Amino acid sequence: MGKLIFEHSGEEKEIPDGEPIASVCEEAGVPFACTEGVCGTCVIEVVEGMENLTSFTQEEKDFLGDEGHERLACQCKLRGGCVKIKF
Ligand code: FES
Repeated sequence: MGKLIFEHSGEEKEIPDGEPIASVCEEAGVPFACTEGVCGTCVIEVVEGMENLTSFTQEEKDFLGDEGHERLACQCKLRGGCVKIKF
């Protein structure tokens, strides 16, 4: 079991290892549209714990370009541990 922490509110949500982060992000207010990594609506910034998310998908590389601090919330799964994000 890992945790997603929202920087703006300090809210912490548990997510089972290997599960997508999308539904927890949506509950916290991250907007979603396509859910397929195409539109970029769900972009989030990872403040801490990027290594605890699954690798960038091809859709993320296509939309975001070089791997930086941004991710598409509809594409990431939690490997385990804590990830702090803002949006
Ligand atoms: S909802 Fe469209 S890229 Fe994530």
